[in-house]
Amino acid sequence: MKHLISIIVPTYKEAENIPVLIESIDKAMKHSRLDYEVIIVDDNSKDGIEDTVKALKKKGYPVSIKVRINERGLSSAVIEGFRQAKGTIYCVMDADLSHPPEKIPELVEQIINGKAEFVVGSRFVKGGSAEHFNWYRKLNAWVSKMLARPFTKIKDPMAGFFAFDAKILTPEILNMLNPLGFKIGLEIIVKCNPRTITEIPISFRERLYGQSKLSLREQILYIVHLKRLFHYKYPSLYQFLFFSLIGSTGMVVDMTTVFVTYGLLHINFKIARAIGFIVALTWNFFLNRKLTFPDSPQKNLFIQYRNFFIVCSIGGLFNWFISVYLYSTYPYFKEFYLLAVFIGIMGGLLINFLGSKYIVFGK
Ligand code: GDD
Ligand code: MN
Repeated sequence: MKHLISIIVPTYKEAENIPVLIESIDKAMKHSRLDYEVIIVDDNSKDGIEDTVKALKKKGYPVSIKVRINERGLSSAVIEGFRQAKGTIYCVMDADLSHPPEKIPELVEQIINGKAEFVVGSRFVKGGSAEHFNWYRKLNAWVSKMLARPFTKIKDPMAGFFAFDAKILTPEILNMLNPLGFKIGLEIIVKCNPRTITEIPISFRERLYGQSKLSLREQILYIVHLKRLFHYKYPSLYQFLFFSLIGSTGMVVDMTTVFVTYGLLHINFKIARAIGFIVALTWNFFLNRKLTFPDSPQKNLFIQYRNFFIVCSIGGLFNWFISVYLYSTYPYFKEFYLLAVFIGIMGGLLINFLGSKYIVFGK
């Protein structure tokens, strides 16, 4: 079967790089006898790029441009490119000649030969490089890579140069892509879940003209993006961690209440503990409702609160028994009574989470 390679190039103020880019791509593709189309998605740069493309088209290069007026962003531009693409293999690359066009055939061949469904042009495998990177950008790349660890073990998950089998990006997944920041490649790895990923070494070059758009804002977006991907890939674990996080704030509320009622006001410990429980329960309920389970089908506040109360009472009963047992059995816990409270809370947490997920906020 004859493949068509759709090369998607997002641009923002890159007009001066386009002629060299297209000529280099064309040379590489002709040399390897590959059919291709280039789709440029430009965010209204107004730098003459449309005329540049028109001229290249006239010369016979298979290049087209889509100019977006109301949208801005690298990832969403790439997604727009996917929507226009007609190929069997998609390849994404920067316009600034940081990514060597002569490497496209090597990337693409991995897919054609069935060696991989997703191929990364990688700076961090043997033979790859990013020499001009200063220590700050290197540290940055390393931290970003470590943060991507829960999703993929590849050496360069941040790469903006990659190719993949168009089949893995189904229309459903295409509509589920949630463009944010620069890391569209990582998102495709997580959501399309390619069976095989390989990395081809590349030398990442300094851009020829213009300047980088990778800002601090992009790096913050990356954290938000990772959080979303984590939610997508490990929904239950994400919920549990969030539930625990809220629970730990509830624990502080609980302990503070016990400290005030028992430690300061000398109310009976058993009662003080119950008061702490109810105050913390209410606190946890509203936070979980808003943040952990925002999509719960049950919307009635009263029913939810009642069920949450029942579930947490069961959890809380365990919680209460454990801490009261420790408190009254071991002299040690008379002194460190807050530790007894803490151990009780841990026991109740699991019951509370499961009950909340499947009963209170479940179907
Ligand atoms: N359409 C569109 N809209 N394109 C954009 C936008 C935008 O808002 N922002 C950037 N681009 C285009 C640029 O014109 C360029 O073609 C490409 O996206 C990469 O942007 P650069 O500004 O050159 O990014 P970089 O060199 O800092 O980052 C590159 O290297 C990183 C690894 O260090 C990118 O390849 C990143 O994806 C990569 O993670
Ligand atoms: Mn660049």
